[in-house]
Amino acid sequence: MLFEQRILELRKELSHHNQLYYQDATPEISDAEYDQLFRELEELEAAHPDLHDPNSPTQRVGGSPLDSFQQRDHLIPMLSIDDIFSEEEVAEFFARLQKNLNLETIPLTIEPKIDGVACSLVYRHGSLEYALTRGDGSKGDDITQNIRTIQRIPLTLNNAPPLLEIRGEVFMPNSGFQKLNQQREAEGLDTFVNPRNATAGTLKLLDPKAVASRPLDFIAHGLGAHENSNLTSEIDFRSTLEKQNLPPNLPLWQASTLPELLTAIKELDSARHSLDYGTDGAVIKVVDFAQRQQLGSTSRAPRWAAAFKYPPEQKETLLKAITIQVGRTGVLTPVAELEPVFVSGTTVSRATLHNQEEIERKDVRIGDTVVVEKAGEIIPSIVKVITTKRPTESEPYHLPTILNYKCPSCGGPISKEEGFVAWRCTNFACPAQAVTRITHFASRKALDLDGLGESVAIKLVENNLATSPLDLFTLTLEQLGDLLLDPAKSSDGLTISKERRFGEKRATTLLGSLEHAKTQMPLNSWIFAMGIPQIGESAAKELSRLHQNLTDLPESKIIADLADLPDFEELSKSKRKKENHPHLAQYQIDDNLGPVAAQNLRSFFSSETGQNVLLKLSELQINPTSDNFAPLPPSDTSNLPLSGKTFVITGTLSAPRPEFKKIIESQGGKVSGSLSAKTDYLLAGEKAGSKLAKAESLSVEILNEEGLQKMLN
Ligand code: IVH
Repeated sequence: MLFEQRILELRKELSHHNQLYYQDATPEISDAEYDQLFRELEELEAAHPDLHDPNSPTQRVGGSPLDSFQQRDHLIPMLSIDDIFSEEEVAEFFARLQKNLNLETIPLTIEPKIDGVACSLVYRHGSLEYALTRGDGSKGDDITQNIRTIQRIPLTLNNAPPLLEIRGEVFMPNSGFQKLNQQREAEGLDTFVNPRNATAGTLKLLDPKAVASRPLDFIAHGLGAHENSNLTSEIDFRSTLEKQNLPPNLPLWQASTLPELLTAIKELDSARHSLDYGTDGAVIKVVDFAQRQQLGSTSRAPRWAAAFKYPPEQKETLLKAITIQVGRTGVLTPVAELEPVFVSGTTVSRATLHNQEEIERKDVRIGDTVVVEKAGEIIPSIVKVITTKRPTESEPYHLPTILNYKCPSCGGPISKEEGFVAWRCTNFACPAQAVTRITHFASRKALDLDGLGESVAIKLVENNLATSPLDLFTLTLEQLGDLLLDPAKSSDGLTISKERRFGEKRATTLLGSLEHAKTQMPLNSWIFAMGIPQIGESAAKELSRLHQNLTDLPESKIIADLADLPDFEELSKSKRKKENHPHLAQYQIDDNLGPVAAQNLRSFFSSETGQNVLLKLSELQINPTSDNFAPLPPSDTSNLPLSGKTFVITGTLSAPRPEFKKIIESQGGKVSGSLSAKTDYLLAGEKAGSKLAKAESLSVEILNEEGLQKMLN
């Protein structure tokens, strides 16, 4: 009981300080005091798991997103390092050191060059004051609150000098990078090209909670500004790192002669591939700080350091086959199946070929001998084809032809959207996409199905309970309640609870929201939920303005006419076309719904899958209704081109008279049946009869279609 009270007290207090610190930027206590309270709370919570609270400050990183990063000057400029690329250049670098220091042997260290993002940590009186990016070298962005989420960076130091600036590299371990990309792929998000990009992208996030969820790490590699630190060499610097629990850059070599230096560079090359992060070189540094001082710097880089860059290892191998993966969003990715080959520390047997355009650009063919390397030392890629080794009978590779325009996973139709490079499967029921589609269907902006997130969708698909979204409506309370989920992990990722059932309570809630979706969710949510290419939320909303029920869509004349308009041109032109179309003009369709979207809708509803969806919906008696149905927008008639004008229509026109009536009315005009002196215009088509003469006698202006058109423009 005593502990419970203390836990509650600490949570309250910490939340308070959290808010002061992050939200109001007016901390009342030091970082050290904060940490002490935090640790006390953590310990108490660990000892009392029954008092676990997901909202405890220990369970999250506090703070709300920033609006932007503040800039700040570096205490000392953050310089770069000069790159060298060959043994000769290493020899030249060493000779220059010998000459400038007038010494034969010079103690050096050799360590990995980490492929990450440079960062400066400024500790004052033992606590992290702020952290900056390199920026332009003289000032950088203040990314302190993002840096605080990196567990390996101590927020406080012990017996530290009054000022200690530690410079180092923020990076993402390869393993964490892969996991992150898998996760993003599953959520239908763009994946990062390499760990460096992922790191840079993450540090730019303004929301520290998002940063906290990314696997960033840090290694210290340099000393910035310092006061009263008594550091005189790289060796001293490294013992400080050790003392302060700051992660050092390892492995480390020492050398004092050129042959020793070259050996170290070679040894580092073979050792670096077993590190769980990208490295692309060896940083060579003079050990002694007095010697560094003597050597000095250029405006760009110090003369006491150099970065030897390793060339990416390249190997030739045979491209045995090209397989095609169906991604969880239906994207078809060609993958080169290679004769296994050892490159940069691992065996490579597959490499992505990205897409058809990339295959054409490199003219990659099955049976080719190709050159493989690991881009950024991580991801295998095909550099080029050795065309001289090409078998005579080889043929250019064309993905859609090979697939016979069918998805390799489900046999459904594949298509390539205008302006995109990827071919994709458009089948609503494609099993490779089942999880993505169900998750999208259930998402908040679609049908908002309570308790149905990705992990539950995965289990439904794995257990064959659902292969497409509409299967959800036939699930029973029992099936859902008994569904086994993955064991839950604790926040430290170490302890795993036993398997969990979805459970009756959550099952009941989910069935409730399915029933709600069936009867209450508006048409636009349903259209969006179907995940038809190019039909986003806004297009769905516009479609539901124009149609009353889902069953109106397959037969819609509006969609048909829109689909017939020429494809994507510049916005202004397509808009003009929409307005000029005699049938479409009156609807004033906004730019969220264009010809391409309409074509996609048409092909969806006419496809076998689309037909099945319609059939299934009618079996389930689902026919969602629009809640914004208003095909003819109420227009402010006063400033429309025809406002206040009265028309009479006669003769044969290019479309039925009611169509013209709609156009005139949509532009603010009135249409009357009988001519009088109050009539402003007679719209006269061919074979106009007596009305023509009457109009003349009443001095009513006579218009043909062209004349009307002019008025509308
Ligand atoms: S020492 C005066 N050591 O490479 C520069 N830098 O190209 C002293 N880097 O911005 C830097 N690994 O962020 C040093 N082991 C290492 C490094 C390293 C990566 C980065 C550093 C710097 C860039 C220069």
